[in-house]
Amino acid sequence: MGRLEDLRRDYRHGQLDDDAIGEDPLAMLARWVADAVDAELGEPNAATVATVDADGVPDARVVLLRGIDERGVCWYSNRRSAKGRQLAGNPHAAVVLFWEPLERQVRLRGTVEDLPDEESDAYFASRPRSSRIGAWASQQSEPIADRASLDAQVAQVTARFGDGEVARPEHWGGSLLRPTSIEFWQGRPSRLHDRLRFTRPDVGSGDWAVARLQP
Ligand SMILES: Cc1cc2nc3c(=O)[nH]c(=O)nc-3n(C[C@H](O)[C@H](O)[C@H](O)COP(=O)(O)O)c2cc1C
Repeated sequence: MGRLEDLRRDYRHGQLDDDAIGEDPLAMLARWVADAVDAELGEPNAATVATVDADGVPDARVVLLRGIDERGVCWYSNRRSAKGRQLAGNPHAAVVLFWEPLERQVRLRGTVEDLPDEESDAYFASRPRSSRIGAWASQQSEPIADRASLDAQVAQVTARFGDGEVARPEHWGGSLLRPTSIEFWQGRPSRLHDRLRFTRPDVGSGDWAVARLQP
C-alpha cells in the first residue's frame, strides 16, 4: 500500500451553482439520492448516523435511509440498541451521506423522534419474513456468547411463530430526523469545493436560510 499522505486526486465531477440556493433542501437531498441510485452506486441510501451517549460522548454507525420527505429522513432500527438508548436520552443527531463516484457529501443535523406506529407497521410488514424474525431474535447491541447462540435464538423465534403472522416488535421501529441544518458538498478541483448550507431556526419553520461556506 502506498503512503496515505500521497493519495491525492482532484474532484471534477460536478459543481453546485448558486441556482441551487432556491431549492428546497429536502427535495434536493431526495434528488441527490436518486442520482446515486441512477448511477447504480452500492447502497445509495446508506447514511452514517451520529448520536451522543449519556456521558456526552459521540457514537456513529451506518444505517439505510428508508424515506426522505418534507418532514426529514428516516431509518429503522431496534429502539433498545445503543443508538436507540442514546436517542431516548438525547434526541439530537447528525447524519452524513457520501457518494464517492459523484464526489458528493450531505450532512444533516436535527432532532429525532419515533415515526408514527402505522408507518413502522407498514414498513415492517414489507420486510422479508426472515428479517422480521431477525428483529425478534436479536437483542441488538447486546453481547452474545457465540454465533451458535444467535442461531439458536433465531430457531427458537422461528418455531414460536410457526406459520403465524410476524408482527412488529414494540421495541423496533422508525426514527425520523427532522433537520434544522442540511449541507450539500460537491467536490471541486484544487480542494476549492462547493458547499451550500441550508439552516432554519426550528423544525416547524419552513423558511430555510442559505449560506455558501468556504471549502
Ligand atoms: C450498509 C449498512 C447498513 C445498515 N443498515 C442498518 C439499518 O438500517 N438499521 C440498523 O439498525 N442497523 C443497520 N446497520 C448496522 C449498524 O451499522 C449498527 O451495527 C447497528 O445498528 C447497531 O448500532 P448501535 O449499537 O450503535 O445501536 C447497517 C450497517 C451497514 C454497514
